[in-house]
Amino acid sequence: MPLSFAAADPASLPLYLITPEQLEATLSNLDEAQAQWVRAQGFSAGAGSLCTFPGASGIAGAVAGLGSEKERKRTRFTLGTVRAGLPKGVYHLVTDVTGEALEEQLLGWLMSGYVFDKYAKKSHSEAELVAPEGVDAARLEAIAAGEALTRDLINTPANDMGPEELETAARDLADSYSAKISVTTGDALLAEGFPMVHAVGRASPRAPRLIDMRWGDTGPVLTLVGKGVCFDTGGLNLKPGASMGLMKKDMGGAATVLGLAKMIMALGLPLQLRVLIPAVENAVDGSAFRPQDILTSRKGLTVEINNTDAEGRLVLADALALADETPSDLVISMATLTGAARVAVGPDIAPYFATDASDAATVAKAGARVADPVWQLPYWEPYETMIEPGIADLDNAPSGGMAGSITAALFLRRFVTETPRYMHFDIYGWNPSAKPARPKGGVGQGARAILAALPELLGL
Ligand code: BES
Ligand code: ZN
Ligand code: ZN
Repeated sequence: MPLSFAAADPASLPLYLITPEQLEATLSNLDEAQAQWVRAQGFSAGAGSLCTFPGASGIAGAVAGLGSEKERKRTRFTLGTVRAGLPKGVYHLVTDVTGEALEEQLLGWLMSGYVFDKYAKKSHSEAELVAPEGVDAARLEAIAAGEALTRDLINTPANDMGPEELETAARDLADSYSAKISVTTGDALLAEGFPMVHAVGRASPRAPRLIDMRWGDTGPVLTLVGKGVCFDTGGLNLKPGASMGLMKKDMGGAATVLGLAKMIMALGLPLQLRVLIPAVENAVDGSAFRPQDILTSRKGLTVEINNTDAEGRLVLADALALADETPSDLVISMATLTGAARVAVGPDIAPYFATDASDAATVAKAGARVADPVWQLPYWEPYETMIEPGIADLDNAPSGGMAGSITAALFLRRFVTETPRYMHFDIYGWNPSAKPARPKGGVGQGARAILAALPELLGL
C-alpha cells in the first residue's frame, strides 16, 4: 500500500488536532449536539485520543488529542495513533500545529500506514488524509517510502534476506533511479582486496559480497556505508540463543542507508551519492574464521580476532577503506554495531560519532527538528590503547567490554584516514514494542536526521 496523501476532496471531513487547552474553543466550532457528544464521551485531548462526532449522514468529523505538554514531550508521531483509530473516510486537518511539528505529525500519519504483510494478511487503515496547504507532501511521501523500504528489509527474515537478496534489493533500488551498481562476490573478494568481508562471510553457503552503488554526476560527494550482516550467529564465539533471536536485523545499517539513499534519489538532491554495503552472513562451519586468527585488512592493518561476534567492524573496515581511497566530502557509516550502544541509550536513540564538531552539531539540531533522536558519543582518544593488542595492529574485541560503542567507533575510524569528515551511527534498527507510527519490528534510525542535515552539511 503506498504511503501517500489523498487528493483534495471537497467532501473531506474535518479532523481537529488539538491540545487539552484548545478543547473548549474547538468545541465551539461544532454544533451544540456534536459538542455535547464529544463531552459526553469524556474526550479530553490526551495524546493520541480520538472522538468522532455525528452529522446528518454519519460521521461529520473527529477531534484528536496531542496531549498535555508533559505527554507531548514523551511522544512523537501522535497522529499515527489517531489514524489507527479513525474510521474509513477522507479527512483534512484543522490544527494550530505548523512547520516541522506539523511535518512530524504528517509523517506519523503516513508511517502508520506501514504494514509488513509479506507473510500474513494484515488489516490496513482506510482513513485517508488530504495534505494541508503549504506542506511539501511529495517530500514527506519520499521520506515515508524510504523508511518503508528500511523496515521491509529489516523485517524480512534471514531465510529470505541473505547477502544475495540484499544485493537484489540494492539492484532494484538502483534500477528505479538509474543508479550504477557493481557487486564483488565470493572469492572475487580476495582478488579485489576485501579480505575481511570474505573472512567473516565465507562460512556461509550464501556467498559474501561487497555492493557498490553510485548515483548523481555533480555536486558534493556523500558516501554511505551500511553493515549488511544478514544474520549474526556470533560465529564460533556463538551468541547465546536469546541474543541471537533478533539477529535478522543485523543488516539494519544496510537497510537504513538504502532507505536514506532512496529518499535522496527520490528527492533528486544535487549531490553525488555512493552506497557501500558489505553483505555477509556470520555463520559457522569448518571454514569459519576463529578467535586469535589475525586478518590482514584491505588497508593493510592487521586485526587480531578476539571475538568472532565483533564481525560488523571487520566487514565495515574493508568497505570504509575502499570509501577512503577516493575523495568524499562526507563519509557516514551506519551499523547495528554494539550491544553496548543499546545498554547506553536504549532502542530509541542512535548514538553517533563525528570527526568534525560542526557536523556533529548540525546533525544533533536536525535530529531534534525531525523527531529522529540522535546523541553524540566521543571519539575518546585515551581509549585507543584498548583496541591495540600485543601482536597485531588492532584488536576487534577489547576484553572487558568497557565503552564498547566507543571502542568500536575508534576501530572503524582507523580505516578512514584520508577523508576529513566522517560520521558513524551505532543504531538498533528495531522497535521492541508498538509505538505511534512505528509497529514492533524494523525501523530506520538516523536517516531522517541526516537527510534534514544534508543541506547544511554539504552546502546544498
Ligand atoms: N550485531 C552485534 C551487535 C548488536 C547486538 C546490536 C545486540 C544490537 C543488539 C555485533 O555484531 C556484536 O555482536 N557485537 C558484540 C561485540 C563484542 C563481542 C566486542 C557486542 O556488542 O556484544
Ligand atoms: Zn556480532
Ligand atoms: Zn553483528
